[in-house]
Amino acid sequence: MLGVTTPAMVAAVANAGALGSLPVGGLSPERTRELIRETKALTNRPFAVNLFAHKPAGEVNREEIGIMQDFLAELCQEFNIPYERKDIDTFRFYYYEDLIDVLLEERISIVSFTFGELKAEAMSAFKQNGVVTIGSATSVAEAKALALSGVDALTIQGIEAGGHRSSFLADQALPQVGLFSLLPQVADEVNLPLLAAGGIYNTRTVKAAFALGASGIQVGSLLVTADESLASEAYKEAILGARDTSTALTRAFSGRWARGIQNTFMQRMDEKCITIPYYTFQNQLMSLVRAYAQKHNVKDFIALWAGQSAGKSVRASSHEIVMRLIDML
Ligand SMILES: Cc1cc2nc3c(=O)[nH]c(=O)nc-3n(C[C@H](O)[C@H](O)[C@H](O)COP(=O)(O)O)c2cc1C
Repeated sequence: MLGVTTPAMVAAVANAGALGSLPVGGLSPERTRELIRETKALTNRPFAVNLFAHKPAGEVNREEIGIMQDFLAELCQEFNIPYERKDIDTFRFYYYEDLIDVLLEERISIVSFTFGELKAEAMSAFKQNGVVTIGSATSVAEAKALALSGVDALTIQGIEAGGHRSSFLADQALPQVGLFSLLPQVADEVNLPLLAAGGIYNTRTVKAAFALGASGIQVGSLLVTADESLASEAYKEAILGARDTSTALTRAFSGRWARGIQNTFMQRMDEKCITIPYYTFQNQLMSLVRAYAQKHNVKDFIALWAGQSAGKSVRASSHEIVMRLIDML
């Protein structure tokens, strides 16, 4: 969970006997290496490194970005949040291709990714080096496409899931399939180990996932309130107080569809009805606002990524959260 997961969380999860995932999507090669080394210093167990596999932005629409910057400047002024206009020519976003050498040099044995497929060269570089790859799908068509590309396992992300949708096929509308429907349908069509993601928080939900065809489960929201999480106090409180109906899908914070607890920023963006620029641009336009909101506990401007069962989270160490899930089985 980019922005939430720390090396300490990854190591604690790995040491508890599960697979911790270190998110490095969009980070520089230098920062990626640092985080990998910090994690290795805390565990001897394998952990996954998680990449973003989205396509690069096409043509820059300067007018669209200008309108968005005007709106953000006005909104931030209203809420006393500092806003700095950005020169889009200085935007820098790292792609997964920039990180492959670091992952191979650091002998990472498991690579997961979201937002797309890896190119054939990347897949074969990982295969040649014995790296296990895990793609992420939100529809049967995406699962089939990823299987065809040669991944070793798949995360199946239901609509309940917190955070960004991993959806990537341009020729279908945003898939919004619940895990109960999606998982068995993928299991019928794709012969790969499946990891169920979305709304999993206790024995019953884990057992249901296995009954529907999963070989493993993946949790996100449940770890946002962990001691090792980077989430601010306001974010943790919002999660702990969440109900089944508290979240919604939004593109407001990053330009990509994601599920989070509804707040003022999401509502104001909805009301404004302006075009939200493509992921990499909107994400950068919002980065300082999000960081300020996290630091100063301004709940209404934090990207409160959370799934539909996030309210079932508890404050505990990552180790304890994982052990509870495992012990209860
Ligand atoms: C705060 C947060 C950040 C996330 N960041 C990532 C990420 O960087 N990479 C990724 O593959 N999935 C990410 N996800 C999605 C999770 O991998 C997973 O699909 C989801 O959390 C499962 O649903 P749950 O939140 O109901 O457990 C994130 C989820 C959350 C809640």
